[in-house]
Amino acid sequence: MLTFNILTIFPEMFESFLNTSLIKRAQKKKLLEINLINLRDFTIDKHRSVDDSPFGGGPGMVLKVEPISKALESLGNKKGHVILLTPQGKRFEQKKAKSLSKKKIITLICGHYEGFDERIRKYLVDEQISIGDYVLTGGEIPACVLIDSIGRLVKGVVGKRESITEESFDIKGKKLLEYPQYTRPEIFKPNSKREWKVPKVLLSGDHKKVEEWREKHAREV
Ligand code: ADE
Repeated sequence: MLTFNILTIFPEMFESFLNTSLIKRAQKKKLLEINLINLRDFTIDKHRSVDDSPFGGGPGMVLKVEPISKALESLGNKKGHVILLTPQGKRFEQKKAKSLSKKKIITLICGHYEGFDERIRKYLVDEQISIGDYVLTGGEIPACVLIDSIGRLVKGVVGKRESITEESFDIKGKKLLEYPQYTRPEIFKPNSKREWKVPKVLLSGDHKKVEEWREKHAREV
C-alpha cells in the first residue's frame, strides 16, 4: 500500500481524477490510499489566507509558511517523503517514478501564486520536483501526474492484461521507446482509394521474427 497525502487549496480539482479508472480501483483494492488535505483548514487568521505579499515589495503573492507547516504537523509521523511541486524543481522522469513507487507514504505540496516563502523549501520538504519546463497555474496537475505515474508502478495497480513490463522507456533495461503496435482490422480502408495495412510479420505467428521486428522498430532515446 502506498499512501499519498495532497496538500492543496483546491481539493475539488482532484475529484474526477481520483474517482476514475485505475486510480479508483487501486484505492478500492487498498493498493493506494489518497488523502486530500485543504490548506485553508490550517490558516490562523479570520480571512483564512494562505498567501500574502512579499517582504521587500514586488508584484504577486507568496504562499505562507504557517499553513503548510501546520498541515504537515497534523500528519505527525504519517507524512513520509515530502515533495514540493514547483517549476524550479528537478525534472520528473520515469526513473524517479520507479524509485518513489517503493515508498510507503508520499506527501505532495501543491503551490499557487508567484511563489513560496523560501522557508518552505528550506525547512519543510525533502525534495522539489518539476514536471517540465513550463509554468502551470498551480501544483495540482503536477500532483496528478506524479500519482498516476508512481501509482501505476505499485504492484497490483495495473493488471496482468495491462502489462507494464514491456513499455516505453524500459525494454530489457534499455532506455527505449515502445515498438509500434497494431490491432484489428488487418486492413483498414479510410476511403475507397486507400488501404492501411498491418505489417505482415506481425500476422505470421513466428515469435522469433516478431521479436526481431519489434527490437528493430523500438527506437533508442
Ligand atoms: N507548478 C507550476 N508549474 C509547475 C511545473 N511545471 N511542475 C511542477 N509544479 C509546477
